[in-house]
Amino acid sequence: MVLTGGGDCPGLNAVIQGVVMRAHHEADWEILGSIQAYNGILREPQQIVNLTPERVAGIHATGGTIIHTTNKGGPFEWPVPKNDGGWEFVDRSDELIRKLKYLGVEGVISIGGDGSAKISQKLFEKGMPVIGVPKTIDNDLMATDFTFGFQTAVQIATEAVDKLISTAASHNRVMILEVMGRDAGWIALSSAIAGGADIALIPEIPYDLDKVASKVKRLMLSGKGYGIIVVAEGAKNKQGDVIANASTEIGYAHKHLGGIGNYLQEELKKLVDVDIRVTILGHLQRGGSPAAYDRILATQFGVHAFEMVLAKKFGEMVVYQHPKITSVPIQEAISKYNVIEYDHALVKTARGLHINLGD
Ligand code: F6P
Repeated sequence: MVLTGGGDCPGLNAVIQGVVMRAHHEADWEILGSIQAYNGILREPQQIVNLTPERVAGIHATGGTIIHTTNKGGPFEWPVPKNDGGWEFVDRSDELIRKLKYLGVEGVISIGGDGSAKISQKLFEKGMPVIGVPKTIDNDLMATDFTFGFQTAVQIATEAVDKLISTAASHNRVMILEVMGRDAGWIALSSAIAGGADIALIPEIPYDLDKVASKVKRLMLSGKGYGIIVVAEGAKNKQGDVIANASTEIGYAHKHLGGIGNYLQEELKKLVDVDIRVTILGHLQRGGSPAAYDRILATQFGVHAFEMVLAKKFGEMVVYQHPKITSVPIQEAISKYNVIEYDHALVKTARGLHINLGD
């Protein structure tokens, strides 16, 4: 059984294709797909599809996931409406495991990010034979050098910086680009370097508004006369504040991040006399066809994940540790976030380029 959970990510379909094509080498194996993560197994009637080589032909180049996804609820916190109009959350994990046994499922391949991996670990501890595949454009999962989807997101963000430079230079403006990155600033820092930005603000390095404003002033007075700021949605000030709203979506466990670009515009306008415009890249970073790198990584993950089912390496997650595609216990992969350390090579490169990191 294959399923995709959490936010969509370029490369999910390539993983599915890798699993299905590798399984096709073995006699007697059938690959099923549960629609919208575990929901397809728990819903009545069930929503489970047969994933054949014919069904997955050509999907490696497409964005999204053909078996749909969700980042709300889950088997341990299934939302049920109450009579008073509110919601309660019930644990349906035992029922899920029973249903999988009844279907004769010998292994579950769960493709997802941090939230999905935490659910996989809990289900594994209850006896479910599960294998994890790490996905996230944020690249914030431990134990793997990269998650698929990240390179595509960096490419999209870099192209956005390239385009914003035209307007910034023509109008002598500061252009702010807000990109994704809840806990880690990999997309922001990478695209700032690749695109040639002047300032990059990331969750790992708290920013000081006065220092950002001084850099902007210097840029405007210099021969350059314009500036580009790339900011991760999860960037924090010295007090640790992020710009976020509580979610009103039932079962959505996170705060909705977003708005740091507009906040910076307002605050910088108080400190520097310059025209500032904001672009929020949003879900454009997660959509569309995966870059070749992500297709290759995702396909390797898919093929390896099925081989892990054959080897009964349950409770493990497939990872890329150069030069190997290997696996680690899921528990290890979720033990902490993969964040950018202060002495990371990308930080040193950014500082070498005089990219201001807000500190
Ligand atoms: O985890 C990936 C991510 O892209 C985050 O960077 C972002 O905060 C979140 O997903 C947004 O998710 P949603 O699709 O629920 O808006």
